[in-house]
Amino acid sequence: MVTLEVNIHILLVTFPAQGHVKPAIRFARRLTASNASLLVSLATNEAIGQQMRDSGATGSDEHINFETFSDGLSVDGNQHDVDKFMAQLNRAGPEGLATLINDLQVRGRPVHCIVSNPFVPWVVDVAEGFGIPCAMLWVQSCAVYAIYYQSLYRLGEFPTPERPNIDVSLPGLPVLKTNELPSFLVPFAPYQCLADAILGHIKKIKKVKWVLANSFHALETEAIQSVSELTPIMTIGPLVPLGLLERSTASEVRGDLWKSEDDCLDWLNTQPKESVIYVSFGSIVSLSPKQIEELAWGLASSGRPFLWVAKPVDSTSEFLLPTGFLDAAAGRGKIVKWCPQVEVLTHPSVACFVTHCGWNSTLETIAAGTPILAFSHWGDQVTNAKFLVDVYSVGVRLERDAEGVVRREEVCRCIKEIREGQRASKIRENAMKLKEAAREALEEGGSSDKNLRVFVEDLISLAREEEAIRVRLPNDQSPDD
Ligand code: UDX
Repeated sequence: MVTLEVNIHILLVTFPAQGHVKPAIRFARRLTASNASLLVSLATNEAIGQQMRDSGATGSDEHINFETFSDGLSVDGNQHDVDKFMAQLNRAGPEGLATLINDLQVRGRPVHCIVSNPFVPWVVDVAEGFGIPCAMLWVQSCAVYAIYYQSLYRLGEFPTPERPNIDVSLPGLPVLKTNELPSFLVPFAPYQCLADAILGHIKKIKKVKWVLANSFHALETEAIQSVSELTPIMTIGPLVPLGLLERSTASEVRGDLWKSEDDCLDWLNTQPKESVIYVSFGSIVSLSPKQIEELAWGLASSGRPFLWVAKPVDSTSEFLLPTGFLDAAAGRGKIVKWCPQVEVLTHPSVACFVTHCGWNSTLETIAAGTPILAFSHWGDQVTNAKFLVDVYSVGVRLERDAEGVVRREEVCRCIKEIREGQRASKIRENAMKLKEAAREALEEGGSSDKNLRVFVEDLISLAREEEAIRVRLPNDQSPDD
């Protein structure tokens, strides 16, 4: 390990959402575990900073520091109107971040590199303004990156308001139907402001020195190869807790926005091996009352034990289970608001995962070798579901009816299909192969380990150059004078 006399301080700026905070913290942990000279400050807005403190997620680590910047909203400000929130973040975020960078300098922690995840394109401009080199931590799949990149530069044919339903054919990817594209790219689909944020970030990519992707080479070989011909990308994933796949005794910083109900692990301990259906839709997806009802009765009539993370979207809403369901499922079902998902996925009692296919859940499931029941909703989830079922062949897709609802019979059919018969055995075999490939990527000398080392060595060279400049210059002169 190369160590330096000076510490290199990386400011990791994360978009304020669970699906972004988790991979950012795991990346921070990988960096600090790889080299003792690295210090990371993880920065997000004040509301999410407060939420992390409340849930105990900012547990200490001597090399990782938690910071917040102002987005101009109060700590209990409403983040649920996505359009308004994005506009506010774009308006106030740059000044808030600049204040934080200056403050860190005053506190004797000058920033050597800024890493941001997508959705916050203005971070690139702030970094440029300070003359600080900048990286992007892409927290979705490389296939999804390839799609956004090629959509931005119209390198293929994409749906338009005039031709909304077309098959999209891009190098290195399977042909994608409109409803298999990241939904923000589809004309008239909700959350277009998120497409603007992602595309806005990619538009600035030439100013970004490193694009680091939370994925691994063996998982997305063709997509990575084809996108690399257009723009550089380095895979450093899967960003899962240290020690889940490779040997490590390092402690973990969790980064949960909600407190887990840890007794679900005790409950899992009482269930037979590979029997439990784990159900969760991540941190943002909300199910309609009709969908909750159908899923509930599907689970109840499957005859199998299940653990369901039934989280209301916010503190003002409720997750209403159908009348009689809890009695019908008595003794077989456990319902919680939040659980330690990685521990659940790796628990020997868990048989399969009904998931919305968020990228973190996808990678955690791959790393656990758990078969998937894909129930995607929007954004990259629909593309991830396509890959999980049709490319990696580690899952079965829950199909919606004409009203867009997955019916109880379909839930039962898919549970049966993933548990019994030839397809189920093949899926289990593929899942174990991918788990092994994920482990290899992270092990010393693996593709992601090598890329992480390249990034760290680049940082060290930059810090050495800066130190050399500082030593040559009189105290009051900056390198740019
Ligand atoms: C969002 C988007 O929905 C997703 O499409 C995108 O890929 C990332 O940003 P989210 O919906 O929260 O993410 O899903 P996901 O990416 O799966 O992240 C959820 C995280 O919360 C995972 O790390 C998961 O382990 C964790 N989690 C979830 C828990 O720790 N406990 C739970 O009970 C549920």
